[in-house]
Amino acid sequence: MKTLIKNGTVVTASDTIKADVLIEGEKVALIGANLSADGVDEVIDATGKLLMPGGIDPHTHLDMPFGGTVTADDFYSGQRAAAFGGTTTHVDFALQQPGGTLVDGVKMWKKKAEGNAVIDYGFHVAITQPTMESVNEIPKLLDEGVCSLKAFQAYKGAFMVDDTTLYKAMQVAAKNNILVMTHCENGDVIAALTEELVAAGKLDPKYHLDAHPASIEAEASLRAISIAAETGAKLYIVHMSCEEAVEMMAWGRAKGYTVMGETCTQYMFKFEDDMKVPGFEGAKWACGPPVRKPKDAEALWKALADTTLQAVATDHCSFNYEGGVDGRKPGKELGKAGWHKIPNGIPGIEDRLYVMYHNGVNSGKISLNRFVAITSTNVAKAMGLYPKKGTIAVGSDADIVLWDPNLEKTISAKTHHMAVDYNAYEGMKVKGFPVRTILRGKTICNNGEWTQEKGAGQYIKRSNPEIL
Ligand code: URP
Ligand code: ZN
Ligand code: ZN
Repeated sequence: MKTLIKNGTVVTASDTIKADVLIEGEKVALIGANLSADGVDEVIDATGKLLMPGGIDPHTHLDMPFGGTVTADDFYSGQRAAAFGGTTTHVDFALQQPGGTLVDGVKMWKKKAEGNAVIDYGFHVAITQPTMESVNEIPKLLDEGVCSLKAFQAYKGAFMVDDTTLYKAMQVAAKNNILVMTHCENGDVIAALTEELVAAGKLDPKYHLDAHPASIEAEASLRAISIAAETGAKLYIVHMSCEEAVEMMAWGRAKGYTVMGETCTQYMFKFEDDMKVPGFEGAKWACGPPVRKPKDAEALWKALADTTLQAVATDHCSFNYEGGVDGRKPGKELGKAGWHKIPNGIPGIEDRLYVMYHNGVNSGKISLNRFVAITSTNVAKAMGLYPKKGTIAVGSDADIVLWDPNLEKTISAKTHHMAVDYNAYEGMKVKGFPVRTILRGKTICNNGEWTQEKGAGQYIKRSNPEIL
């Protein structure tokens, strides 16, 4: 099958050029001016459209048991929603199970995706059993196509690993070119603060904020960066939320350590005040690290623009606001008796690209090429997917989004495709929207019409993560 996309503007992380793109089978075959349509099966007219590499979301949680329930989105609903938003690949977190191995965790998550996948995907695995058996198993992940390992410095008593395990895991990861990803918050302090707040009867959603201060995110970030410096590990800090943590990252990078970081869409748009509203509504925004202040969002935008941070993810972890009724999976309502029982997480796998484009590119906070870098190219490089994914280049997978820079939409849970009953960006008006998503040469959605088969998404083996 040969497809020719004519008259569009190709945007990569480095260039913006008027060019036609010829796709042969699953790959980009040619990029150039006035390409011939001879022998081509389909010609797509992209006049007035931008052609960008499909979005790559480095941080999602689909079909994940967490907080006494399971995420609202499974692999089918979550990936389908991602595709409608222009994302063609994501890397999800498999969790090591109590008493299980890391590879068992990966295999378990592969089963969840198989037969349901509609876009391409990979897995990180979270080390949750702080034993030397787990640490010694880390190199085996490469055989599974997994080159990134998450360690939680938070969630004491559940996922948290101690500093000895973190240090040893980083040593092994460094020797085997495996990226270490850390959730940076001080889990001991969170546990102590939680106990104090609950004992004092402070149970409303807003007290979630008091248990997760910015200072302990900064402290854990510096700790992770320091351990990476000592071991030579490549470190990627996930979901960075505040100015103080960004300052630690800037310090580590200035020192020349092999460290980089991501932030998430919600930290630019959701704030402490959204959690402080009367009643239970604030539960929608309970996540770890928590939402912060507008001044933190400004610091994050600046860090994305000046390359202190390399990527923007969603940390898509959807829980219904009013779950457990009308066939909806239980969700945030589990925390009605106390904020510490609210399942942590915010949905957004569908929304990342247009929210970041409208508020970043249209407002002049980031360039169009930087937008492509932080939503696709840098992610592909950091996660060992490049150049198969993350760019429009001859030989790369033809994962292409046709983007209408003039199309205006209002975001709403009424029209989104995620299987969750609220949207973090409800009512936001955006200009610039994906109109056609192409995965490995095949159009999977086109002007709102879904054309992908369930199960056609592929697991992608990853290797050689890069520090950017
Ligand atoms: O609140 C969050 N971030 N939920 C997902 C789990 C994690 O820590 O990434
Ligand atoms: Zn985390
Ligand atoms: Zn997460």
